[in-house]
Amino acid sequence: MKLITACICACVFLVSANAFRILGVFPTAATSHYNIGSSLMKGLAGKGHDVTFISAYKDKSPNPSYKTVFVKEAVPYMDEVRKGMSTIRDKALLKKLTDFYDVGLNITRLTLEDENVKQLLLSKEKFDVVICEIFLNEALLGLANQYDAPLIGVSTAGSNIWTNDLVGTPSPPSYIPNLMSGFSTKMNLLQRIGNLAQTHFERFYFEKFYLHRQAEIYDEYFKDPKPSLDQLRKNVSLVLLNTHFSLAFPRPYVPNMIEVGGMQVNRKTKELPADMKKFIESAEHGVIYFSMGSNLKSSTLPKEKRDALLNTFKNLKQKVLWKWENPNLPGKPANVFISSWFPQDDVLAHPNVKAFITHGGLLSTTEAIYHGTPIIGIPMFGDQFLNMAQAVNGGFGITADFNLLSVDYLSRIINEMMTNDKYTKQIQAMSQRYRDQPLTPIETAAFWVEYVCRHNGAYHLRNSGMDLTFIEYHNIDAFAVLYGLIFLIFLVFFKIVKFIVRLVFNSKRSKFHKD
Ligand SMILES: *[C@@H]1O[C@H](CO)[C@@H](O)[C@H](O)[C@H]1NC(C)=O
Ligand SMILES: *[C@@H]1O[C@H](CO)[C@@H](O)[C@H](O)[C@H]1NC(C)=O
Repeated sequence: MKLITACICACVFLVSANAFRILGVFPTAATSHYNIGSSLMKGLAGKGHDVTFISAYKDKSPNPSYKTVFVKEAVPYMDEVRKGMSTIRDKALLKKLTDFYDVGLNITRLTLEDENVKQLLLSKEKFDVVICEIFLNEALLGLANQYDAPLIGVSTAGSNIWTNDLVGTPSPPSYIPNLMSGFSTKMNLLQRIGNLAQTHFERFYFEKFYLHRQAEIYDEYFKDPKPSLDQLRKNVSLVLLNTHFSLAFPRPYVPNMIEVGGMQVNRKTKELPADMKKFIESAEHGVIYFSMGSNLKSSTLPKEKRDALLNTFKNLKQKVLWKWENPNLPGKPANVFISSWFPQDDVLAHPNVKAFITHGGLLSTTEAIYHGTPIIGIPMFGDQFLNMAQAVNGGFGITADFNLLSVDYLSRIINEMMTNDKYTKQIQAMSQRYRDQPLTPIETAAFWVEYVCRHNGAYHLRNSGMDLTFIEYHNIDAFAVLYGLIFLIFLVFFKIVKFIVRLVFNSKRSKFHKD
């Protein structure tokens, strides 16, 4: 008995001794990014850590070990940006790209201008680690230096050049598709050329037209003396990625880049609201769940596309759950249930939900895989094309082109998914592989965050590749010297052989002449 009490005391002591003060920085005003950030931060608070969370969203359930520093301007700004989003597909590629980067710069400045963030910076708070989202907000890495704390980066998507360079992860463009390319990991020669060009162009734009603007913001808001932003970017302890090889494809990582995809998945399903449950369970031929995520409001869909959807759904045997933000939907058929909010995990987990029509965002596709519900994706922008390319390649999804959306087109796709069970079989096999992990993604993330704290930044994980130039990293100088030498040796060898041959030949000839 005494022993048990002692053990419990020791455990409690250990837990409190290992509690760390954590600053989380997730400034991007998109609910998908917030969901990743808050899942991680709540998970860490749940492990006994003291969490402060800079966020574009207010937390509804205040908790003493989980404080939100609310950036109030971010969401109104993003709402303005989003108004233009349903037309974004029509913009020229370069304009799309520059707008995308400008939004990041504006959000970064707006975060540092925020009164609550300014107060936090002026306070004498101490943090053991700073966990910062890496999404076009590099100047915010200055927070780590301000608090003299190690820095952990988080990508709310998979890895990309913004995160790879922070820890020096190799990323061969021969089989790692650019996030925006829409290619899968298997590329033919033409696609590889396209991927190489895109990857290099992105790097060129990022380094030459973007990073110095982040450095200006960094220099403006953080006081001297301080390392340069470039030095900070090369001194990141760890990067957490919201992906997993079982969700995407296998690829190399350095040891301080860790996959924790699916932190936001709600693993304990709850009872559905009564009306939804009744609707789903009364569907004799199953239910299709339709939600375009939080970035694209279905009420801003062009009328002709909305009519195409309505008329497609009307003729289905299946019932349809439609995430629709307005209280009513003119011409809503009887087999359609609208709601501005669905408990997505619980809906997808219901065995009578047979398919998920989605925009193909990473969170939604991950949740579909976890719950084993096949997807029909209508990608709109960003990484949605890539996610859907992977779904098609993996045989668990069908991509629908938004521009081609018509009753005929969509009915054919839904019919294919409802009559061919290979999609369901494939996604359920993936679900089993994804669930087969030693720790949950939150537990994995918590382990590595604590590891960085326990080992004072864990700088022993940092690889020497970080200190090399492009030429050195790719060994171009060594190749040049090595093969140059080999070439020289061969050249000399041939000259000597030629010389000897001529000597022998000449001496024979002179002998012949003598005779
Ligand atoms: C970013 O902010 C500047 C200055 O407020 C503004 O002129 C510009 O339109 C903004 N860019 C985007 C893409 O929102
Ligand atoms: C990285 O940051 C740590 C902690 O601030 C510091 O001790 C170390 O010198 C830095 N290393 C480099 C290479 O800048």
